[in-house]
Parts: sequence; structure tokens; C-alpha cells
Amino acid sequence: MLPIPFVDLPPLARAAGTVVLPGSKSISNRVLLLAGLSAGTTLVHDLLDSDDTRVMLNALQTLGCGVEREGAALRVSGLGGRLAVHEADLFLGNAGTAMRPLAAALAVLAAQQGGRFVLRGVPRMHERPIADLVDALRRIGCQIDALGQEGYPPLAVQGTAGGQLSTTQAIRVRGDVSSQFLTALLLALPLAASDAAGLVIEVEGELISKPYVEITLALLARFGILVQRDGWQRFTVPAGSHYRSPGEVHVEGDASSASYFIALGALGATEAPVCIEGVGEHSIQGDIRFVDAAQAMGAVVRSQANRLEVQRGAWPLKAIDLDCNAIPDAAMTLAVMALYADGPSTLRNIASWRVKETDRLSAMAIELRKLGARVDEAPDSLRIVPPAQSDGWRPAVMHTYDDHRMAMCASLASFGGQPVRIEDPACVGKTYPDYFEALFALAQADPHQIPVITIDGPTASGKGTLAAAVAERLGYRLLDSGSIYRVAALTALRAGLLPGQGAPDAEAAAAIAARAAALPLRFAGGQIWLGDEEVSEALREEAVGLAASRVAALPAVRQALHALQLSFRGLPGLVADGRDMGSVVFPDAALKIYLTATAGQRALRRHRQLMSKGLSANIDSLRADLESRDLRDSSRPVAPLKPAEDALLLDNSAVTIEQSVAWVLDAWERRRPFTEA
Ligand code: DC
Repeated sequence: MLPIPFVDLPPLARAAGTVVLPGSKSISNRVLLLAGLSAGTTLVHDLLDSDDTRVMLNALQTLGCGVEREGAALRVSGLGGRLAVHEADLFLGNAGTAMRPLAAALAVLAAQQGGRFVLRGVPRMHERPIADLVDALRRIGCQIDALGQEGYPPLAVQGTAGGQLSTTQAIRVRGDVSSQFLTALLLALPLAASDAAGLVIEVEGELISKPYVEITLALLARFGILVQRDGWQRFTVPAGSHYRSPGEVHVEGDASSASYFIALGALGATEAPVCIEGVGEHSIQGDIRFVDAAQAMGAVVRSQANRLEVQRGAWPLKAIDLDCNAIPDAAMTLAVMALYADGPSTLRNIASWRVKETDRLSAMAIELRKLGARVDEAPDSLRIVPPAQSDGWRPAVMHTYDDHRMAMCASLASFGGQPVRIEDPACVGKTYPDYFEALFALAQADPHQIPVITIDGPTASGKGTLAAAVAERLGYRLLDSGSIYRVAALTALRAGLLPGQGAPDAEAAAAIAARAAALPLRFAGGQIWLGDEEVSEALREEAVGLAASRVAALPAVRQALHALQLSFRGLPGLVADGRDMGSVVFPDAALKIYLTATAGQRALRRHRQLMSKGLSANIDSLRADLESRDLRDSSRPVAPLKPAEDALLLDNSAVTIEQSVAWVLDAWERRRPFTEA
């Protein structure tokens, strides 16, 4: 998705279909680091492609690891435990799964082999604590300096070649702030275990988020390191531990990402199920336990080896009171599901939310209140009283705090009968760049709830450019209806159905309409496809334009193209440009714009356009052409050119395209129900 300031979701009604999950973030970044530390190469399949994995990959490449595409997979050549470069400055964004383990691994390597490495991130990363990890590493002899505030990144880790680490005593680390500190030590300390002696890590305090540590242990085992675990307090890395690439690794789908679609099924899959491919009952990710919580709230879930099928069961959902320590990330999704419950829900033991991408506890409380819920925020829990299902929901502008999970959760708040605005939707790129596309493929709204903006106007008024710009800015779909008439004309021309100049006879008209009803038309990435042929260029030809105006005058063709045009009305909204969009095809459009400009201005624009293509033209004859076309268009009996009754007129003779876009967006905003809380 483009970095747009917000996306508005209309009220959603149902959901069905299949989503293929992106790879797990937690598994992806652990696998990458382990592959980078191992000798030899590892072929990684189904890796997550997102902000967090990109910073890890960049860091590994900076450190001298080889990274090559191999088909859809990635081949990583590892360092074999030997530093290839001894100085680097690494930018790790807001990826905790990169910052913590890389800091530990580089601190251990630098202490033994010499070097200096700086690790930094975005400002929020510099607010996320790392003191417990730094303290543990310093105690065994690593040199780590905080470059900003003590206990937080940015960090410099350094050492001189030949240094020794003291690992004979148990290495102690706190486990009650973030389990990533233990994970970081588990991933890094095999570098410090000698062939003669292993080492022991002891956890102080109650270990939180244990399932993430289980992922770490499972992946270490895949890479040849069999850590012995005594309860959750003591972990032994055996003597002679060496990272050994398993050759190939398949990354599971992301179970935390699955939670949004499990919730979607619980909220909206009233007929067909929502099917989720990429995780199943045997997942090694702790967040798969979200399934149990969703079931407790009433979802019907069928679980297979690598697939989940979810349908709505209880409705309203059943309120829950749950200790969420084992599923900290997915539990955020429960907070949104609680909005649809039959009473107050309480999510407990979630203090770790406060040190994630944002302070998620307070962020969630603030945002859910905007929707009409009553929320009590405690130091380590949330109690959520749902809005009254009848009239308690309010249209809300959801702030997302540069936190992918806040944005994905907010998208599920649109089943309350009110539209929801989600700010900075591109922040989902941290773990799920295509989230909104996936959501819009599964979620359904009643068509009359999906907003349509129509833009009409005479030829060369600039409506196509304006419509495309408005659609892009709002993240809406675009219907260039003129191009549909042009495609119908192109197929008619090719079939020899448009001989001469005048109107085709009745038989030809019927044949043209029949073809128009079955056009194998596809719009993709700004291109127009007819079957296997890309026709965008061919459509712009003058002869096709003339033919289009002839077929557009045939009522049977207009009728045949009606359903096709209606089918463009999809989530999250549509900008439709062309004749009769506001008057016939989308009479209930929420905003109708009729663009005008003087014939003189339009002639000037067309002239510039032709000159830029290297074509010669005469302004006066262009102007005369436009004037006679206006007359023909507005006086023709079928779909004449005239503003819809309730259209706003915009004369853009004297304004720039940017000003026109701003004018339309402003008119749109005034019709939206959002008022900033
Ligand atoms: O906007 P354009 O030049 O691409 O349109 C091609 C022809 O189709 C033009 O003659 C107008 C006609 N048209 C129409 O009749 N109804 C529409 N909704 C769009 C275009």
C-alpha cells in the first residue's frame, strides 16, 4: 500500500475466502541470524518480506554474509562463527527481533575476535529497554557502551582479538521484562561455548512469553544446538556446540498475523468460512494458542496441519477473562474482539505490551474508547466494556502509533456498523506489507455502504488525471469507465463490426453488445489487459476513441457494460470517472464532481499533450473540435453529457491539478462523519 495518511473502512458486514499468510517474523529473523552464524549456506523458503526482516538481512550483508535470491527462496551464506568485518554501523529500524540477538552475538564475537559495532534504530527503538541483556553480557566480560541513555540503544559493542569470556559460572538474565533477552543469549552464547565446556544460563524472575523461547530452542535444534532446559529457569548449552546449517528451512506462516483473520472469521464468516493457510495445529509459534482464546469467545475453528478454517459461532461473542502472558502479540486482537462481546472482558498479565512498538496498553485503551467502549487500564491488564450494540458505536479516527498491530487491530473495529479511519496504514509494513489488500479480498460490505466518488466532465477537462490522483490519495479503487467503452470499441473494430462511419446496424449492435458483456478485461498495476494482451497503448489511439464514442451511443452496449462497472464498487471505496457515473451507474454516490474548464483552456491542454508526444496540432482547430464535440455529447439522446443533479461543479480552468485534488479531498472530508476525538 502507498504511504497515504489514512484509509477509511466502511462498516463491514461479512467475510469469507482464503488468505495465505506471510512468513512468521519471529521465525524469519531467528532463522536469518542462525543461517548467518552457521558455516555453509542455508536455503530459506517462505521468508517474511517486511521492514523487520529487511533490516536483519541488511545487517547480515553488512557483516559479510552472502544473501542471494534463488527462485522464490533466499540463500544465506554464513560466517561460520568468524567475523568477516570488524567494524560496522547497523541500522535496525524498530525490530526488536534484530536488535536484541544481533547485539548479543556481536558483543560475544567482538569480545573474542576484536572489533567495534554500533547498533541503532528509529527513535522508538531507543526507548525500548535492553538493560537486562546488556548487564548479562557485561557480567561475562563483553564491552558494551550505551551511546545515548544507559540501558537503551543505540549501543556500541567492542573488544580486542584474543579476549576471553567468563562463562564458567551461570550467566544470569532477567526474564520478566522481555523474553527476547533470554532468546538473544540463547542464540549468541553457543559462540562462547568451547569444545571442552558448555555454559549455563539462569533466568531471574518469572519468564514471560515462554512460547517465544520455545521457538528459539526449536530453531537452535534445527541448526545443531541442543539446549537442555530445566523448567524455565535453567538452560544449558552443551560443550562442543557449533551452528550447523540444516541446508534448507521452511518458515511457517505468521501465527500472530493469523489472529486478525481468525478474528475476521469469528466476526464475519456467517456463511462460508475464512480459511487461513500457512499455520495449523502443529505450529511451533506460541501465538497459535490464540485459537483457544478465539474459541472461548465463540469462534468455530477447524484446525489442520497447515491450515485453519474459521466461522462465526456465538454472536455476540462471549466475554472472557484471560491471562494472556503466553500470547502477548495476538492478545491485542482479543482486545478488539472484546468490543463485540456480551459483557466486559479482562485481559491480564500483559505488562510487556508497554515496551513494544509503542505503549500498547495505553494506546489500546485510548483507541478503543474512541469507538464507544469503556476501558479500564491497569498497570498490567485491560478491562473492556463493549459499546452498546444498538447505538453505542461511534465513527472513529484510529491513531496507530507507527505500530503495525495497532493498525491491523483497528481494521477489525469496522464490524460495529460505523466507518473507521485508520491513520498511517502503511505501518503494517513492519510484519505484513499486504495486510489491507488481504483484508479487502476477504471482507465484504453491503455495496451501498461502500463509498463512491464520481468525477465527470467534458472531454479534456482533466477528469481522468483528477480521478486517479484522488483514488490514490484515498487508497480507493479506480474505475476509468471511458477505457471500458474503448475496450468494447477495440474488440468491435477487430471483429469487423464497425465498418464505415455511422451507427452500426441492429445486428452489428447486438453483436457488439454481446462481446461487451463478456470482455475478458483486467486492470492491474495501472495497465489494462484484454485476455493475455496489454492494451493500454492501443486504447489511446484516435481511431479507438472515435469508435468508442460510436459504441457508447448504443443503448444495448451501455446496458451490457452496466454490471461490469458496478462490480468495481469494492473495499475500501471507489472513484469512478466518466459519463453517467453519477447519474446512472452510481446514483447513490456519496460525492459527485462535475469538472469543467473553458474550451480554450482544454484546447491548450490537449495541444500541450500532443506536442509532448511529438505530434503537431493547431490550437484553433482543437478548440473548434472540442466545442463541436461538447455540443454533440450534450445533445445526444443516449447518456448525454450533463452534470448529475446533485453534482458539485469545479471549474478548473485556472487551477493546478494539485489544487483540484485538494478541493475534491476537502469536499469529501466535509461529507465524512469523522470528527477528531
Ligand atoms: O473518456 P474517454 O475519451 O476514454 O471515453 C471514451 C468514449 O466513451 C467517449 O466517447 C465517451 C464515452 N463514455 C461514455 O459514453 N460513458 C462513460 N461512462 C465513459 C465514456
